[in-house]
Amino acid sequence: MKITYLGHAALAIELGDTHIIVDPFISPNELAKDININELKADYILITHAHQDHIVDVEAIAKNTGAKIVSNFEIVTHYGNLGLEGHPMNHGGSWQFDFGRLTYTNAIHTSSFPDGSYGGQPGGFILETSEGNLYIAGDTALTMDMKLIPMQCKIDLAVLPIGDNFTMGIESAVIAADFIECKNIIGYHYDTFGYIIIDHDDAQAAFSKAGKDLTLLPIGDSLTL
Ligand code: NI
Ligand code: MN
Repeated sequence: MKITYLGHAALAIELGDTHIIVDPFISPNELAKDININELKADYILITHAHQDHIVDVEAIAKNTGAKIVSNFEIVTHYGNLGLEGHPMNHGGSWQFDFGRLTYTNAIHTSSFPDGSYGGQPGGFILETSEGNLYIAGDTALTMDMKLIPMQCKIDLAVLPIGDNFTMGIESAVIAADFIECKNIIGYHYDTFGYIIIDHDDAQAAFSKAGKDLTLLPIGDSLTL
C-alpha cells in the first residue's frame, strides 16, 4: 500500500492496481500547486465529510476518471444527483470492495456542503487490505469511540488530523494514537490555513516522547506500508 500526501486532508492510495483518492482539496491549495488533478488516477474517491476543504475537486476527478464516490448516504446522494456513481455507507457499516474491506467510522465534527445544505454526519475510514490496515480519521475531535477500533481491527498505520482549531491538535492526536493502539501515524489537516499552522518540531517531539512515530510527508511524497 502506497500513500501519497496531496496536501491538507487529501491522499492518494495505491493498492495493487487500484487507485483511491481521499478528500481532494488540491486546486485551491497554494501549497499543493505542483499536484495536477488532471493527472490523478482514481477508481474510487473516499469522502469523509462535505466541507469544502474535502470535496472541492471531487467532481472534476470523478468526471476525468469515472471513479466511484464512497461516502455517507447524503454525500453520495448529492453526487448521484449530479450524475456521478457512488456507494453509500453510514457509521459502523463495512463493505467488501475489490481493494479490501472498508468501514465508515465515527467522527466528531460537522458536515455541511459549502452552500449550507446537509452533508450527513462526518466520518472516517478503516481500510483492511492484504497489504495492511489503514485508519483515516477524517476531521474529528479526540473521541472515546476510537477505543473501539482496535477491538475489531489491528491498525498498522493511521492518518490523524493534528492542526488543532477545527480538529484534534497534537496533544489529542497523541492520545488518539494510544486509543487506536497504533504507533505509526501520518499527520494531516495542518498548515493549509492560518488557523491550523503547527510547529513541526514540536509535533515530532510530542509523538516521540510518547513512543510513537509521526510522519509529516512533504506534499507529493509517499510512504509505503
Ligand atoms: Ni471539516
Ligand atoms: Mn477540514
